[in-house]
Parts: sequence; C-alpha cells; structure tokens
Amino acid sequence: MGVYSRIAGTGSALPEKVLSNHDLEKLVDTSDEWIATRTGIRQRHVAAEGETTCDLAERAALAAMEAAGVQASGLDMIVLGTTTPDIIFPSTACLLQHRLGANGCAAFDVNAACSGFIYALSVADAFIRAGTARTVLVVGAETLTRMLDWSDRSTCVLFGDGAGAVVLKADTEAGVLSTHLHADGGKKELLYNPVGVSVGFKPGEENAGVRVLMTGNEVFKHAVKALDAVVDETLAANGLDKSAIDWLIPHQANLRIIEATAKRLQMSMDRVIVTVDRHGNTSAGSVPLALDEAVRSGRVQRGQLLLLEAFGGGFTWGSALIRY
Ligand code: COA
Repeated sequence: MGVYSRIAGTGSALPEKVLSNHDLEKLVDTSDEWIATRTGIRQRHVAAEGETTCDLAERAALAAMEAAGVQASGLDMIVLGTTTPDIIFPSTACLLQHRLGANGCAAFDVNAACSGFIYALSVADAFIRAGTARTVLVVGAETLTRMLDWSDRSTCVLFGDGAGAVVLKADTEAGVLSTHLHADGGKKELLYNPVGVSVGFKPGEENAGVRVLMTGNEVFKHAVKALDAVVDETLAANGLDKSAIDWLIPHQANLRIIEATAKRLQMSMDRVIVTVDRHGNTSAGSVPLALDEAVRSGRVQRGQLLLLEAFGGGFTWGSALIRY
C-alpha cells in the first residue's frame, strides 16, 4: 500500500499592526482608489519593530500543531518557505525548531519567493512519500515589508507580512494528490532584490539595495500565463475536469490575477479563497494564510478538493492538488 501525505492541521499568524491604503496616501503619491482598483488590496499587516519572520512562523506553527494534535517531539522535519529570513544563517527553520523544542529533527528553509510554501509543501510531500519522514511541519512565513522601499509607490503598496503553516502526516489515503513546480531564472530582473552576500553588500549607499525591484505589468502578464499553464497541467496529471475542484486557494498578489485563474477554471469567485484585500501580498505566507482562514471559517471541509497555486520572483511558480 502506498504512503501519502495528508494535511492534519493548519495555522496562521498576522502582525497586529494594520496599514490601510489611506495610511499609504500619506507616504507616497497614491490613492486608495488606485490601489483597490488595480490590485484589490485595501490593507496589509506590518510587523512591529523587532517582530521577525520566526515570530510569525512560531505562532502559525503552534496553531497548526495544536489543530493536528502533534507535539514538537513528534516532528520529523521542518521545511520553511521564506525569502525574508531573520538572519542569513542559521535558517529560520532552525531558529523555529529551537523555539518549538523540536531539537534533533531536520530543519531547512526553501527560498522560492512567493512560491515558497508550494515548494516547501512539495518537498515535504516527497519526503513522506519516500518513507523518510512521517510528520512534517511546513511553513510559509515572511516579513517582506522589511525590504521595501517605502518611497517607491509601485512596490510598497503591494506587500504585507504574515505566516501560515500546515502539519503533513503520512497516511494510506492520499491528501496531497500531486504537486507541480517550475522556475525560469531568465526573468530575474523583472522581480528581484539585488542586495547580496556573495555579490557584496554596498555599505554607504542609503538603503543599500535592500529593496524589492519590480516591473509590475510584465510580472502580471507572466504570472497569468504561467498560472494558466500550471492549473491545466495539474488537472491533466490527475485526469480531472475543471468542475472537480471545490476550492481555488491562490497566491494573493493581485485580485485581477486571481480572477484570471478562476476564469480559466470556469470557477465563480465564491469558490475562490480571497484574502488579498486584507493581507496584501505576504509572499510565501499567502497561500497557507488563505488555507488556514478557509479551514477555520468552515468553508473548506474534509474530503473536498483544493487547488493551491503560486507565482513569484525567480520566476518560480507551482501548484498542489489536495484532497483535504
Ligand atoms: N499609485 C498610483 N499610481 C501608481 C502606483 C500607485 N501605487 N503605482 C504605479 N502607478 C502608476 C504608474 O506610475 C503608471 O503611471 P503612468 O501611466 O503615468 O506611467 C500607472 O500607474 C500604470 O502603471 P502600470 O505598472 O502599468 O499599472 P498596472 O495596471 O500594471 O498595475 C500593478 C500595477 C503593480 C498593480 C500590477 O502590474 C501588478 O499587480 N503586477 C503584478 C505584481 C505582482 O503580483 N508581483 C508579485 C508577484 S508574486
């Protein structure tokens, strides 16, 4: 009998502080109307001074472990998707492991920008299917607002902070049915942060490269195309028709991108989980945050079929088809 992974519990965490579009009107030349119309975002949560990615990851992880009935000592592995680690090393997964008291189990970060959670989930699923791990904590956690240029209206209005987590457990019944990962490193310049360790920090320059640079309209086009392709690929790999999907749980970057994917799947928006209006783009945090909200609100029920997808810097993109 095959071994599969199933979601045993979900959790999430948001910083307390909320920054509305109206607050941003005071920082840059923008308007609530522009942001809401172009992106669907109305507000985002911003980490307090001293509040880190690991702080948010810890809260999300504890909630997921409680929901799953799993103790820290029961974890075989922690895989954490982030592009905003607390420090360069140790990995945020290692910092989290120590906080949770799960010392001894494997722990590592995955950097796939906004696709970080889908990548982390796929890695965890592969370890469980291979029989190498039975209980894995998968986290997507970010404090992306830390690397924004708050004078650049084309980026600072888009992002927020947050974390989500799931506990995956080995099972004889399939939960994660398939995952599909892709990347195209040739599109680096369209969405990136040029600050570097190996390329050298540039001390002396103000804000020395610690900022997200993006050609938004180009990213938009690539995202819609790549997500269309990956949802088609996911359905084909499972021999399923669009109508089989109960819920679309997309990366929350832009409501118009989400609507385009929903249209491709011929899904009405009431079967799509949307949090971008309240969370903004929380990068690797966005999909597990949306999933946890959908589970805790009672919309997503056991036995339903969920399609998770994400697109982000790299470019990276991917999907996961899950029987919840
Ligand atoms: N407020 C007001 N005006 C703004 C603005 C803001 N916050 N940001 C940009 N503008 C202006 C631009 O300067 C431009 O002005 P111009 O026509 O005078 O040159 C105009 O709005 C249109 O800019 P454009 O970039 O073409 O708009 P858009 O419709 O593509 O929307 C995004 C911009 C960023 C919202 C959109 O491209 C997007 O969401 N892209 C995907 C980004 C993304 O998801 N990134 C993360 C992927 S994980």
